Amino acid sequence: MHLIEVLDLKKHYASGFINRQYTKAIDGASFHIERGETLGLVGESGCGKTTVGRLLLRLIEPTSGNIFFDGTDITKLSRREMRTLRPRMQMIFQDPESSLDPRMRIGESIAEPFRLGLRGNISRNEWRRKVLELIDIVGLNPEHLNRFPYQLSGGQNQRVVLARILAINPEFIVADEPTASLDVSVQAQILRLMMDLKSEFGLTMLFISHDMEVVRHMSDRIAVMEKGRIIDSIKDIC
Ligand SMILES: Nc1ncnc2c1ncn2[C@@H]1O[C@H](COP(=O)(O)OP(=O)(O)O)[C@@H](O)[C@H]1O
Ligand SMILES: [Mg+2]
Repeated sequence: MHLIEVLDLKKHYASGFINRQYTKAIDGASFHIERGETLGLVGESGCGKTTVGRLLLRLIEPTSGNIFFDGTDITKLSRREMRTLRPRMQMIFQDPESSLDPRMRIGESIAEPFRLGLRGNISRNEWRRKVLELIDIVGLNPEHLNRFPYQLSGGQNQRVVLARILAINPEFIVADEPTASLDVSVQAQILRLMMDLKSEFGLTMLFISHDMEVVRHMSDRIAVMEKGRIIDSIKDIC
């Protein structure tokens, strides 16, 4: 069974006060993602990539269509049911600072999923150990734990975001242009780290970018988007 199955997904935004018009941000998209696979989603700015990502995690509601996650149509779930499911799916945004609480020290941010009990009932010592393990996995040092996001570079903060996501231990990740805000040299490091984490943790990923080179590098399969539709699917990536 596919981990993700999307059927005829649509998201229309109403605009215009007197003459009601609709922006068809997503206009009938269907695709699937196999377990352990990275599907690249590529297309020009404004074609609907971010909207697809947000719909898959149900951060926004679709106009119509179905989104199956592990066999469950999440468009039909209640708020409460969605809340239980949500830790299994996480999103990485372009700007790491937007997913980190500026008032929280790095260590607290990474420890939060443990503290909130998302990983079951584990002792404080146990989660301290796990935080240290995660910080090492993403290539940061224990001395970063006491700092705040503003004291770290963009690349370092994106590493923090990755550590925090690994602490949540999701099955599925939507990465929306995760390196677009970073310096070119740092981009390559973060992409390599994401590849490593993906295979080490057996993650399934939707990797979104406007950059075909980056998508090619990261993906097992590519879906090309144009004006809210998937116009092409590329399987053999060399
Ligand atoms: N909240 C919104 N209200 C109205 N239009 C929106 C909204 N969000 C996105 N759009 C429109 O939907 C289209 C797709 O946007 P987006 O998914 O952000 O594209 P991409 O990520 O590919 O650049 C764009 O035309 C955008 O202006
Ligand atoms: Mg976008």
